[in-house]
Amino acid sequence: MTKNWTPTSWRGKPIKQVPYYPDAQAVSDVEARLRTYPPLVFAGEARKLKKQLAAVSRGESFLLQGGDCAESFAEHGADNIRDFFRVFLQMAVVLTFGASQPIVKVGRIAGQFAKPRTSDTETKNGIELPIYRGDIINGTEFTEQSRTPDPARQEMAYRQSAATLNLLRAFAQGGYANLENVNQWMMGFVADSPQGERYGQLARRISETVDFMRAVGITAETNAQLRETDFYTSHEALLLGYEEALTRVDSTSGDWYATSGHMIWVGDRTRQADHAHVEYCRGIKNPLGLKCGPSLEADDLLRLIDLLNPANEPGRLTLIARFGHDKVADHLPRLIRAVQQEGREVVWSCDPMHGNTITANGYKTRPFDRILKEVETFFGVHHAEGTYPGGIHIEMTGNNVTECTGGARAVLAEDLQDRYHTHCDPRLNADQALELAFLVAELLKKERDSHPQKMAVNG
Ligand code: PEP
Ligand code: CO
Repeated sequence: MTKNWTPTSWRGKPIKQVPYYPDAQAVSDVEARLRTYPPLVFAGEARKLKKQLAAVSRGESFLLQGGDCAESFAEHGADNIRDFFRVFLQMAVVLTFGASQPIVKVGRIAGQFAKPRTSDTETKNGIELPIYRGDIINGTEFTEQSRTPDPARQEMAYRQSAATLNLLRAFAQGGYANLENVNQWMMGFVADSPQGERYGQLARRISETVDFMRAVGITAETNAQLRETDFYTSHEALLLGYEEALTRVDSTSGDWYATSGHMIWVGDRTRQADHAHVEYCRGIKNPLGLKCGPSLEADDLLRLIDLLNPANEPGRLTLIARFGHDKVADHLPRLIRAVQQEGREVVWSCDPMHGNTITANGYKTRPFDRILKEVETFFGVHHAEGTYPGGIHIEMTGNNVTECTGGARAVLAEDLQDRYHTHCDPRLNADQALELAFLVAELLKKERDSHPQKMAVNG
């Protein structure tokens, strides 16, 4: 058990990014009810994910983490979940095939509702209202009623997470993710795009392999690895009252777990070592992520690693680098060296989204070429340092949105207005997400080919 820690000990620390709820009693009432609700995920699942992440830290697997910037109540529906899951599976297949490595699949989904913001308020036409902080806290609509934080939204978020997770579990284990369906995951809009073409070729090769395996007696009916996949959920643990209410003791180990999602992460704005968010996260046993942006000093990172992974447990901590395409080469090497010098076990993942946000045509957007550039530079830095680029962390959707500019089927700045649906940050559309997966697969293959001994050891 972690020293001097309880699920409520964060309440005694300074905290950033807290919403102001006008009715404190209503918040306590909601939290009291949430404490009685069933857990969304189980400790054993979080432990299984931690094991898979430990394999990533050894260079034997690769982490694919992605989903919405902010999930929304209005867009909650089976089609959206299916479309996301389908593109995510396509990406995973591209990566598995390209790199001949297992892919650890973690969605930013079923709980990704709370958003850290740069300012507390937003002013339009001389009217100042609280900023939108995610559907678990308030609404996007620019009215006083919608923008006032409402604790009842926490129960909505809990129920939406439960329903989303239920469908995801069915997709992952109930036949949809069966590798024999690799051709059927082609979807309308990707199918007639450059990425659809590329994916189609790859799917045909996989189908031939599956047919061959069937001929020698290895079939999806007899083999769970072909029939099912492990899919995990994650979100930023920002709204700590909600997280606390879903923190439970695991009866098997006696340890505390966050049961709001399998993996949770600390954002770049709330990672102060002596503050509340780090305090909460250090005591739960789930795999953790830590966003690392340009202002993070090597000493602070080591202090955070001491707090978040004192036992140096592989798979416990994923460092998610989010520097920007033009900054990653300057900042990442010093952090990698500090971690290496201290012999710390971490997974290094690349978030090429949050350091590359610009405004174009009045929209918050991200140029696709900068996203690719950050990923390439991330791989290049790891190659030079002799460390393993273990994963990517992206904001994406299965829909044909126009939120990030560029890509093979180019979205132009003047197209942004067409289908700009995100509640917060711009996401890759399905085509762009798949294009990124093809690029990462090539980078991973190159990385693998340049370490022949490792390949022999790891099969
Ligand atoms: C996010 O992942 O949506 C986010 C806000 O990231 P960061 O904390 O890295 O800015
Ligand atoms: Co975001």
